[in-house]
Amino acid sequence: MTTSEPPQPQDAMLRQFLETAARVSAHRKKYLLAGPARMASFARRNPLLHKLVCWLKLHSSCSPERLLEEAHRLASNANREMSPQAPSGSASGAPAQQTPAASSPSSAWELYIDGCRRAPDGDALISACRSACGDTFLHERENLTQLYRRFKPKEIGCLGSGCLNDVPVEVFLRGGSRVCLVDWIPGISEKSFAFGLIRPRDTGYACLLCNLPGGGAKFCKNFKAPARSAHVCDNFCLLEGDPPRCTRYETGVQPRFLAGDATLGRATSFAAGAERIVASANSLTECFQSLLQECRRFCWTARQTLDIPDGKLDFVSSVMVMSQFEHEPYEFFSKLLVKRFGQEQILAQEESLRPLMEELRAELFRMQIDGHVREMYRLVNKKRGHVYFSVELFEKHPERKDFFLAEGTPFMLETLGNYFFFDLEALPLDRTLRRVDVGKGHSVIQSYLLTPAPRPRPAA
Ligand SMILES: C[S@@+](CC[C@H](N)C(=O)[O-])C[C@H]1O[C@@H](n2cnc3c(N)ncnc32)[C@H](O)[C@@H]1O
Repeated sequence: MTTSEPPQPQDAMLRQFLETAARVSAHRKKYLLAGPARMASFARRNPLLHKLVCWLKLHSSCSPERLLEEAHRLASNANREMSPQAPSGSASGAPAQQTPAASSPSSAWELYIDGCRRAPDGDALISACRSACGDTFLHERENLTQLYRRFKPKEIGCLGSGCLNDVPVEVFLRGGSRVCLVDWIPGISEKSFAFGLIRPRDTGYACLLCNLPGGGAKFCKNFKAPARSAHVCDNFCLLEGDPPRCTRYETGVQPRFLAGDATLGRATSFAAGAERIVASANSLTECFQSLLQECRRFCWTARQTLDIPDGKLDFVSSVMVMSQFEHEPYEFFSKLLVKRFGQEQILAQEESLRPLMEELRAELFRMQIDGHVREMYRLVNKKRGHVYFSVELFEKHPERKDFFLAEGTPFMLETLGNYFFFDLEALPLDRTLRRVDVGKGHSVIQSYLLTPAPRPRPAA
């Protein structure tokens, strides 16, 4: 007699999903026509069926193989979510921490946000961003270096680290600090870090990692103690280009690269809502109204913290991250709308939709500001920690000579003030307010050094 293992909940889930996939595949037209009431009933009775039909509505002409592939991917994700090993919660009691992004994106939003890494010329994009924005962010780099020398923090987290234009990561590592670089675009800071390692010298090249305290092995898995040259290790293999790189560089334990949403998952929650709502709504107006409702009811309550323990960081930086909040998630939503309703229909209704558009953008912005400020406060050590925060305060009007206040500024200041005190003496004031030009745009950027309040203000 053979004994068989009782079916695991995950197996049952996988089987159920694959059956669902076969059903959708066989009755594709019927599911494509499913209206909001049926979609809502799918969502209640069979969330997996609901996810697959949502996806199908956005990819209505996909091949049967692609549909099955997607079904399989959703099944695996659902499995992972059900798995007992899934992260269970943070020290602060938040429902779930973000794990580093898996290598294969699992939603249209992840695909969208991963665009840079997946683009055939992704390296060129990062290279271009570094050379176009390096000067703009030089000031931030200098401020951060100055503050680093003053406070000597041991644990540093840079939120929205992106192409590292503003992050003097080599200074931090040379000083022996542990650094966590966080961006929701997976891989962007790893690549940028690799782009900054190799410098030409009179006679050959030098790798930054060779002279770091603790030995290069901590910083690169392929590091081999240099016997031949003092400037590069014995595994150095040059890739010529702009900038020159080492083909053998492989991420070590430091710096730590973390892919995650620094708004307590609110941007991600907005994107997930947008994907579901656009797939099932009957009209543009319904999309805006439902997404606005989704924001107010659900996204504002998202508490998905980054995978860094509470109070762990002595120093947190957030440079111009907030200024981008509304941009990517709203752009993603707009792209879904164009795909579903077509550019012409959107243009025809633009005027009448404008108030709803503005309301949605403002809501999206506010809920991310609130999430980001709470996340910074959670991360920073309440006794000795500091936060360096920069944001675009004014933007020049494209046709006029004067500037206008950037969206959400009063709300941002009020929210910061609920959680932090403003240290206006650590940096000279002329280093905290400046005009920058990026392409044809002109802005005024303000930087703040913040110290956490012992307790958030009751109003928060
Ligand atoms: C203007 S850049 C800041 C400069 C950046 N350190 C650089 O050198 O390119 C803003 C960065 O924040 C990231 N970002 C925006 N929203 C984010 C979020 N909710 N969570 C994590 N990163 C975010 C963007 O991907 C981008 O890399």
